[in-house]
Amino acid sequence: MTKSNTEILRADAAGVGRAALLLERGGLVALPTETVYGLAADARNASAVAQIYAAKGRPSFNPLIVHVSDAAVARRFALWSDAAEVLTAAFWPGPLTLVLPLGPDHGLSSLVTAGLESVAIRVPAHQTARAVLTAFGGPLAAPSANPSGRISATTADHVLAGLDGRINAVLDDGPCAVGVESTIMALTGPRPTLLRAGGLPAETIEAALGETLDHANGAEIIAPGQLASHYAPRAAMRLDAVAPAKGEVMLGFGRVPGDLTLSASGDLTEAAANLFDHLHQLDAMEKPIAVAPIPDHGLGRALNDRLRRAAAPRP
Ligand code: TXA
Ligand code: MG
Repeated sequence: MTKSNTEILRADAAGVGRAALLLERGGLVALPTETVYGLAADARNASAVAQIYAAKGRPSFNPLIVHVSDAAVARRFALWSDAAEVLTAAFWPGPLTLVLPLGPDHGLSSLVTAGLESVAIRVPAHQTARAVLTAFGGPLAAPSANPSGRISATTADHVLAGLDGRINAVLDDGPCAVGVESTIMALTGPRPTLLRAGGLPAETIEAALGETLDHANGAEIIAPGQLASHYAPRAAMRLDAVAPAKGEVMLGFGRVPGDLTLSASGDLTEAAANLFDHLHQLDAMEKPIAVAPIPDHGLGRALNDRLRRAAAPRP
């Protein structure tokens, strides 16, 4: 049997330092938070974020939560409001994620936001997660550290059972105290809206805000990638195209060249890292978009899922 290349790090200064170094190099590190273990990567590094989807085998690009060390850092990435001020003062650090409008010059990979104009941010309370954020000094994208469709990991053994050999390291600091994911609230519309029930009870949030929360409908919670607000180009899209028709702009892949090419070498990780930026750029040309065929395996499944949704008839 070959030995796994996933490092098991202790939650001491050396382990935290090693985790931060791997993250700086674009690696994937599973970390404990107070809710569940997260699979972290540099949220500004598109290919590192693409590797998260590859390691989890996620068949679609759901937006990810950005973890930061405090509210001052969060303000670099998102637009603030009175409600954001009240909630972050009351509940950060802790198991509350806020979906806020993206700020200018945020520098986050568009794969983190799945091309949306909003971003989910939280400040974890777990001391080891906080130590890594401080040592790393930047924003970390981190979904739960489990293969897609499997239950979330609340110990390092759970992480290894699902992801051993697929990630650079796991930082082992025992079981997570909360054990369920963070509560997710959107502050992007006229009313504060609960998107996902989680570690912080909705009643506690309502008491702090002095108002009741709207509730997103179930479909949005189960499949956030299908949120009505999810980015779709304004232009018509034609998939599996081997060449552009007259008047079309072309999104290339592999041997099919385009005005922009997801990956000339046919690398699916590179393609995923480029997907949303390329779609935005082609959309700005205000012409119909033809898209080269993408192989339907590995990250290609998530690319094709996103492209099919972008090409679907608009409501
Ligand atoms: O407790 C937690 O929140 C854990 C730990 C690791 O922090 N993380 C976690 O991440 O549960 P994940 O990727 O499994 O869940 C992220 C969810 C998405 O599925 C989506 O529902 C929501 O966050 N989300 C992220 N960005 C969003 C956005 N811009 N708009 C709406 N929902 C968003
Ligand atoms: Mg999850």
